Amino acid sequence: MFKKKILITGGAGFIGSHVIRHFVKKYSNYEIYNLDILTYAGNLENLKDIEDYPNYNLLLEDITNEDRIQDLFTEYEFDGVIHLAAESHVDRSIKNPLAFAKTNILGTLNLLNSFKNRWSDNWKDKRFYHISTDEVYGTLGETGLFTEETPYSPNSPYSASKASSDHFVRSYGETYGMPFVISNCSNNYGPNHFPEKLIPLFINNIIENKDLPVYGDGNYTRDWLYVKDHARAIDKIFHEGENMKTYNIGGFNEWKNIDLVKLLCRLMDNKLGRSKGESEKLITFVKDRPGHDLRYAIDATKIKEELGWEPSVSFEEGLSLTIDWYLENEEWLINVTSGEYKNYYQDFYSNR
Ligand code: NAD
Ligand code: DAU
Repeated sequence: MFKKKILITGGAGFIGSHVIRHFVKKYSNYEIYNLDILTYAGNLENLKDIEDYPNYNLLLEDITNEDRIQDLFTEYEFDGVIHLAAESHVDRSIKNPLAFAKTNILGTLNLLNSFKNRWSDNWKDKRFYHISTDEVYGTLGETGLFTEETPYSPNSPYSASKASSDHFVRSYGETYGMPFVISNCSNNYGPNHFPEKLIPLFINNIIENKDLPVYGDGNYTRDWLYVKDHARAIDKIFHEGENMKTYNIGGFNEWKNIDLVKLLCRLMDNKLGRSKGESEKLITFVKDRPGHDLRYAIDATKIKEELGWEPSVSFEEGLSLTIDWYLENEEWLINVTSGEYKNYYQDFYSNR
């Protein structure tokens, strides 16, 4: 399928910036439009190396703005949408659920509506690709995997808002015949990850010799995927995925938080020339996250068998690349951890 004008929302964020870079470099015959309002999580520094590419365009806009989004569809006639813009941090959703409902539900609905208004008279070669999360499935016990057939059972305001947006996307397919695909991915890690999330937060705290706040007993399990592998999966699904279908994306790479944190400490000691065991002394067990999902693990067989995608970067390799990136980009880290984030960190972690 050939798409000429592609709107990518949330392209200044963590995953979005890797998706933008991947598409801009690989598809010089496409016009790529990055639509982002630059919340605390959006950062144009993430795109410095590609901002001058002739096929890259920036649209500073809010996905919830009805008139402006409709105008942009009329003006640019995007024939494909890859929608990543969202509020993405579970802890923030517990503090401020309404912001998540507004961006993740209403923002998605607004994009769907503008896309429908522009193309419903002829859907040929059009596609709306919604990027979602494995958290919509809720939690697993000690065994089992999430498949595309697992019923939705979200437990946090974040995952409830993502589940709701997934349902709206599907409803536009059923009701208006809108061609869509959805993917539900596990935890990403890699360069440009905002340091409120586990891996970059702990890398930053180890550098600064600050406590590593592990929630509860640390026996929570996540399935980790290197962000560039996610960008490759998104490319595959956007071009070759079947309309009206969902694909799970995962790393086949489950880690209990506490084991991951210890591995990170060992790697960081090594890279920083610290003595063995030094960073581990920073581990502090703190009050648990309310509604904390015990375990996520993805069965990514469908995307492997149907589209030939599988992860290409091992966890040790990916973590090492990630740590190196943060050590080499200290200024990026300092810039994003000053300002608003400083207050968030102080407020959130001093109460645990
Ligand atoms: P992020 O928080 O790093 O980036 C979100 C981006 O969206 C930012 O650039 C922000 O400025 C932009 N944005 C927020 N509200 C907006 C609005 N109203 N209008 C326009 N732009 C807005 O998020 P991320 O971790 O890169 O996640 C991207 C997407 O992938 C999200 O939809 C998330 O649910 C999904 N996802 C994330 C992960 C993960 O591990 N990070 C895993 C699976 C799925
Ligand atoms: O599974 C996909 C999801 O992964 C995405 O949809 C979300 O956008 C993304 O933020 C991520 O959600 P998690 O809640 O799993 O990620 P987070 O990095 O916040 O936490 C990972 C695990 O580490 C989780 O079990 C909570 C724990 N944790 C987190 C933080 C920030 C701690 O123990 N201490 C911390 O300070």
